[in-house]
Amino acid sequence: MMKNFVSICDLTRDDISDLIQLALRLKDERKRGRFSRALEHKTVAMIFEKPSTRTRTAFEVAITELGGHPLYLSWNELQLGRGEAVADTARVLSRYVSGIVIRADRHSTVTEMASNASVPVINALSDREHPCQLLADLMTIYEKKGKLRDMKLAWIGDGNNVCNSAILACAIMGLSIDVACPPGYEPNGEVVRTAQAVGHVRVLTEPLEAAAAADVLYTDTWVSMGDEATAAQRTRDLSAYCIDKHVLHAAKDDAIVLHCLPAHRGCEITDEVIDGPHSAVLDQAENRLHTQKALLKKLLV
Ligand code: CP
Repeated sequence: MMKNFVSICDLTRDDISDLIQLALRLKDERKRGRFSRALEHKTVAMIFEKPSTRTRTAFEVAITELGGHPLYLSWNELQLGRGEAVADTARVLSRYVSGIVIRADRHSTVTEMASNASVPVINALSDREHPCQLLADLMTIYEKKGKLRDMKLAWIGDGNNVCNSAILACAIMGLSIDVACPPGYEPNGEVVRTAQAVGHVRVLTEPLEAAAAADVLYTDTWVSMGDEATAAQRTRDLSAYCIDKHVLHAAKDDAIVLHCLPAHRGCEITDEVIDGPHSAVLDQAENRLHTQKALLKKLLV
């Protein structure tokens, strides 16, 4: 197992399969009121440069339930917010804590933290990737479908950081993925090329073509954190990329629908779909807790 979790590519297929199995076991044990104390006497720093509901809460609860102490550190309340070097922060925090979870604007901040820390660093979202999200997504697909290999995932909308991690995760785990996005909203080109070298990835423009015979439909907000200044333009450009009943109809009859949340209902997904019988969105959100707990156990213990 690797030291840091900066990209979903830091994990092999076997690593991810093992994490999903561990997360399933931890989920079952939690239901039965049984908790591992694997992080007893360990503190985990959680640096957030951006807002979060699921990632922060799931990590705080996971660390607490494992017997450890989650230390939430808002970027602007740290000296980082006044310009202290990321490398110095990494070296100092490594003297206090057993691991660092970081959500940052720039992916380079996460990699700099990881290369200077002597404790494990976990990417809790950057502008390039959201690998923790994909662990929960893969667990959810596995729970609902009983397998990952040879499933087809269709990503509808903005080719953002979550889309990048989805493309890489599908390539690693043997799912095919079709991305439908308008010109100018494609996922990272290097990510696509890396994934295409080992897996089946297509970047298309037509939502119905991408959704055809899909086992999983996935979307995310059209206006990610940092995109607020161009929100109106993005909303116009992406208006045809909504998961609605027509897109759902193009997928397999038993398709599931994922959204990493927060959702903008009526934009990238309709109420009817996100609240409908195909939606696995709440299970997906819950699985953030179990997969992050499994990740912490593997990295920090
Ligand atoms: N999906 C996700 O990362 O949610 P938060 O931004 O609320 O953490």
